[in-house]
Formats: sequence, structure tokens, C-alpha cells
Amino acid sequence: MKLALERSGNGAPLVFLHAFPLSRKMWEPQRVLSKNFQFIAVDFPGFGESLLETRSASMEQMARDVITTLDAADLKDPAIFIGLSMGGYVLLQLAKLFPERLRGLAMVSTRASADSIEARARRYQNIEIAEKEGAAALGEKMLPSLLGETTMKSRPAVVTTVRAIAAKQTAAAVSAALRGMAERPDMTETLSQIKCPVFVASGREDTVIKTSEMETMAKALPHAEFAAIDQVGHLLNLERPDVFNDLFLHFLKRRLL
Ligand code: MLT
Repeated sequence: MKLALERSGNGAPLVFLHAFPLSRKMWEPQRVLSKNFQFIAVDFPGFGESLLETRSASMEQMARDVITTLDAADLKDPAIFIGLSMGGYVLLQLAKLFPERLRGLAMVSTRASADSIEARARRYQNIEIAEKEGAAALGEKMLPSLLGETTMKSRPAVVTTVRAIAAKQTAAAVSAALRGMAERPDMTETLSQIKCPVFVASGREDTVIKTSEMETMAKALPHAEFAAIDQVGHLLNLERPDVFNDLFLHFLKRRLL
């Protein structure tokens, strides 16, 4: 299916894939990159302005939807894809299914492995919360894991932004993505097949996916550059946008332009 897509700017295309339980709005602080690049962001099924057609949104189907959407917008040249957390899970499917579409990647706060038994059980508990109490309640519960300790204490505007984006999503979209993430396969073997440069970024206060785990993932990628950012958690692009944008821009200039 076609997803909601927005684009601005000119130049090499940067395609942003959002985290759970948010929408493309989480990439607002990266819109400044449209000064030098084409900024493109999509909403996954049911999130933001995209429709939801299935009960379970698999990572593979979402990757296919991204390509269908780019094709429909006549964006068929290889692009630089940026995926944060769930966006990164989708990115690995995209790398496996459509390697010819990759010019470069950024894998932020994400992992290649599947859920542990405990993590899968937590997803089904979260589906119950979303269905009984709503997506906003689930977003509220998740806030301390989505944001680092420093942000929770000293960046109230970021907390407000994340809370507001999460509150706008529907229980149906959130539940479909949770089912898709719970059922996603291990993609570790795909890492060694990725031939393009990859920027790997982790927040040192991320409690969902630890910096050490991301460093190990970076080592399995043949052409990766790893950056660990201080005083941020999982949603590091929103927590310290200037630091993230600078590091990413340097990577793009050095490795991809
Ligand atoms: C995300 O940020 O997309 C989620 O933390 C992913 C997950 O729950 O595994």
C-alpha cells in the first residue's frame, strides 16, 4: 500500500523512517537538512496520515510499502535511508529485499536481533494497554524508555513533543505495529551483506537498546561508522538534534557525496 509521504528540498534523497509509537513528525528537527538534501519522510501504516489495512504490520510489508510509496512519487534512484528503532527494523528488511535501492544508511537506536521471549510478552501486554486505555496511555508509560534521563529531567519541550506525537496515534495502529515487531525475524545475517556506508548512532542513556549492543552491530556491518552520543536516550535525533545533525552531515559529506 501507499504511505503518506512528505518531501522538501533538492539534492540526494534522505528517506526518514520513524520509531514506535510515533509518526514522521519525529523528524521535524532534521528538516534543516533539506538545505543540502531532499528531505523525505513517511508514516508507517496507521500512523500519522497513513491508512491501516492489516491487523499486524510486518516489518517486511512495511519495507515493501516504503518502496511502493517512493516509486509512486517517482523517487526510484538509490537513496540514503535513516531508520530509528522500529524504522531500523524496517530498514533491514529493505536492505535484504531491495539492496539496489540503497546509497547509504543510518541505523539509529536499533538492532538486528528478534525479540526475546520476555520482550514479545511485553508487546502483548502493551497491546492490551493500547486497546483498553488508548495509545496516549501507552505513550505515557513508554516515555521514560523513549527519552534519556537527562532529557526527562531537563528538556521539558522534548518531553512535550514526544508525548503529543504519541497521543495522536490510534490503538489500532499501535497494536498492529506491536504484533509486527513481536513477530519479526532475526536479521543478523543481513548485516554482512550491506555494501553501502552505514552511520550507526546510539544514545548513551538509551535503556531500550544499549550502546554496547549497537557497537557490536556496527562491527558486523562491513562499512559502518559508529557514534555514541552523550546525555541522550533512544530518541536522540529529538533530544540533541544539533549534535545528531552535525555528526550525520559529516558522515554524509565524507562517505556519500
Ligand atoms: C521504537 O522506538 O521504535 C521502539 O522502541 C522499538 C521497539 O519497541 O522495539
